[in-house]
Amino acid sequence: MSLSEAFSRSARRYDLLTRLNPGYRRELRRAAKALAHGLTNKESPVIWDLGCGTGLSTQALLDTVPDAHVIGVDASDGMLNFAREKSWPNGTEFILESVENLASNDAFDNAPDGVFAAYLLRNVPEAERTAVLTSIRELMKPGTPLVLHDYSVSESRWAQAKWTIVCFAIIIPLATLAGAKTSLFTYLWKSVLDNEATATVLQRLVQAGFHHASVTTAKGWHREVLHTYTAVNQEGLA
Ligand SMILES: C[S@@+](CC[C@H](N)C(=O)[O-])C[C@H]1O[C@@H](n2cnc3c(N)ncnc32)[C@H](O)[C@@H]1O
Repeated sequence: MSLSEAFSRSARRYDLLTRLNPGYRRELRRAAKALAHGLTNKESPVIWDLGCGTGLSTQALLDTVPDAHVIGVDASDGMLNFAREKSWPNGTEFILESVENLASNDAFDNAPDGVFAAYLLRNVPEAERTAVLTSIRELMKPGTPLVLHDYSVSESRWAQAKWTIVCFAIIIPLATLAGAKTSLFTYLWKSVLDNEATATVLQRLVQAGFHHASVTTAKGWHREVLHTYTAVNQEGLA
């Protein structure tokens, strides 16, 4: 089964399970605020929400920038179907596409004012990550911000232990109780444990041509487990 199919199969229970993850939505809003802070066009900005899933990150963006025109993009039609069923302000769109293919899809011809990607990069094959970041940057307007938000525990043994405890004591048992297939959650546990260091993500951002790349860690139990990266596309600026 492909990763997109696995996400589609778990889409029905995705929102419930994120509700059981303390701080998940709060930290999405914190990351959305980081994007809002970097926007140079603050009037009805166009924001791409890459890997939008069922729309939780889209909602965090709209909570933070209510007049934004958010375009959610995801490779899983199952996740997108749940996003589309929710109620959204005019101008919100959802497009089925892989981030690897944005440049060849006419729907992305108009450059965004900002790009957001929560829990996406880890799911892109390692060998393709820098190329994907480069292609995203090439589609952005000069001076516009990118925010990535994802787990990374490889730099801290304490973070690795916390992550394993939360997965096996909370997330996987609750997923089982909720009737979800646990395979996606064991994949989640392993993919986070194996995920690259924050320093590597920062290096990729620089290699992809972004400027001002920086990272902050989240609050509460997510501290040193969940991170928000900000960077700017300076290309084309005088
Ligand atoms: C963990 S979910 C995150 C959803 C949402 N951003 C949130 O914060 O709740 C990751 C999403 O990324 C999508 N995804 C994974 N790889 C992708 C790719 N290469 N292109 C587009 N979407 C992808 C998955 O289908 C899934 O919906």
